[in-house]
Amino acid sequence: MSEPLKLAVLVSGRGSNLSALLAAIDKGACHARVVGVLSDRPGAAALELARERAIDSRVVAAKAYAERAEWDRELTRQIEQLTPDLVVLAGFMRLVGSALLARYAGRIINVHPALLPAFPGLDAPLQAVRARVSISGCTVHVVDAGVDTGPVLAQAAVPLLPGDDAATLHARIQRAEHALLPAVVHAIAGGRILLGNPPTYVGEPSDPTNCLVSPPVV
Ligand code: GRF
Repeated sequence: MSEPLKLAVLVSGRGSNLSALLAAIDKGACHARVVGVLSDRPGAAALELARERAIDSRVVAAKAYAERAEWDRELTRQIEQLTPDLVVLAGFMRLVGSALLARYAGRIINVHPALLPAFPGLDAPLQAVRARVSISGCTVHVVDAGVDTGPVLAQAAVPLLPGDDAATLHARIQRAEHALLPAVVHAIAGGRILLGNPPTYVGEPSDPTNCLVSPPVV
């Protein structure tokens, strides 16, 4: 079997997606290894998760740099030291800079709590509740220079239920994220998603092993 895919995971907050990735890796459902966790916020709870597991954890706080470009270069440098195959944005709340994009072009993925291209940017679950849609969900996509505009790799649908507010919807969407993100990483590790330009799938979209199609989460 091939070597596990080496992941650098970028976080800003709670880290439930990081936790889901680690759990999937532990049970053999995601052929990957988290080689480092990097946060733009020193207090991110996700860093604690990494420390508990003795995973290399680093803080590159944007506030510590006068220029955004300096922060971007330092973040890129720190990631390079980890020699990842893939950079995973798992609740990373900043736009990545041009240095990082250039260094890992096509090898940065993000999980977003909506069915892109609907509701990009901040507060996607709130946007969905306000728009009174009946279905939202989550998307794993390749990161480009735009705000949640890169090629979609996989999506999972999540219904809005009567009485939902942004928090209840986000909690339901996160359950879907926790399945989808490890599944996509596993598909990349197994060569079933090829991160070329554009990304391509090996096999038919209807193939149950292809995570492009996933059942709605209720
Ligand atoms: C997730 O909902 C993700 O879609 C968004 O930020 C949230 C991060 O949650 N980009 P967590 O830190 O992984 O719990």
